[in-house]
Amino acid sequence: MPYRIGLTYDLKTDWIASSDDPIDATAELDGTDTVEALTAAFRANGHEVVAIGNAKNLLAAIDKGLKVDLVFNIAEGYRGRNRESQIPNILEMFNIPFSGADALALGVTLDKAVAKKCWVADGVPTGKFFEATLDDDLVQLNKIGYPLIVKTSQEGTSKGITKNSRVTNIDELRTEVAKICNVYKQPALCEQFIKGTEFTVAVIGNKNPIALPVVQYAVGGNVQMGNEFYSYEHIVSKSVQYICPAAIDVALAKNLQDIAIAAYKSIECRDLGRVDFRVDETGKPYVLEINPLPNLSPSEVFPMCAKAAGMTYNQLINKILNYALERNGLVVPRAQEALSSK
Ligand SMILES: Nc1ncnc2c1ncn2[C@@H]1O[C@H](COP(=O)(O)OP(=O)(O)O)[C@@H](O)[C@H]1O
Ligand SMILES: [Mg+2]
Repeated sequence: MPYRIGLTYDLKTDWIASSDDPIDATAELDGTDTVEALTAAFRANGHEVVAIGNAKNLLAAIDKGLKVDLVFNIAEGYRGRNRESQIPNILEMFNIPFSGADALALGVTLDKAVAKKCWVADGVPTGKFFEATLDDDLVQLNKIGYPLIVKTSQEGTSKGITKNSRVTNIDELRTEVAKICNVYKQPALCEQFIKGTEFTVAVIGNKNPIALPVVQYAVGGNVQMGNEFYSYEHIVSKSVQYICPAAIDVALAKNLQDIAIAAYKSIECRDLGRVDFRVDETGKPYVLEINPLPNLSPSEVFPMCAKAAGMTYNQLINKILNYALERNGLVVPRAQEALSSK
């Protein structure tokens, strides 16, 4: 059965710039290429697509009597810790079904420290951490020791992460905490630095979520990242490579996939998500964060994982849509049933 699918997104070009924006202010927002690729994937499966855009456009469209069966939401939001929750909250308020995590799960995951508290409670392995603001006595607060990584608690796409983010003493810690608080206007997340290797695992589905093949990150062709990490400079210079499926032993891959599913369930993710990991030199994995709205641009990591699992981009996107339809009690299109059960 074809459906009328609304598409909500926040474009980089909709960003209203201000003089105190950091250089990476729009890093998480979408490009038109993702919107076009999603539209083409839904149309290829016979669906009608209504391009809605951001929260203001959504409210205006609802005011004009918007009629869609489901909204496919990739909107990252523009401001505040609840920015990703804003569109899901509006949709819930007007009883419009939508894809992906709900407002609560998006709020929990957007603040990495809050997500980590859920994982600690549920026994999902994640690094020791503390949060710091400008007023804190960092000597008192740091019970972990060094090295630490100091990062934003409420941003993604390696925003605010530079080669100085790994700190080994109190002076460096003070400098980096001040940078995060002053430039990004939020508490700094100070976390045990995991020396080793780095992976990401895509998860899809609901009752019995499936983990896709593991992706390994390499910097300058080297998978043994050790004390290296994925900074914003790496994103700009495109110097990180993704190896999928990761050339690792079956036991580690299975362990990462199982932990990814546990992290996804703990947060009550829905339909899709992507879990980032570091693995230390003894082979112990640590969850860094979960992305319930992973970038779905065809050139990004998530579609790459699907490809390694034998799915084309169109199949992946329609499979996610079908999970959302099913979860909302809507009939999954007949031609798609075989695909969904794959
Ligand atoms: N505890 C850590 N130990 C080592 N490297 C880390 C740690 N936390 C983050 N990093 C590095 O910083 C990058 C970005 O951190 P992450 O928590 O995934 O935030 P985001 O991707 O949302 O910006 C990671 O991909 C990793 O390279
Ligand atoms: Mg990450």
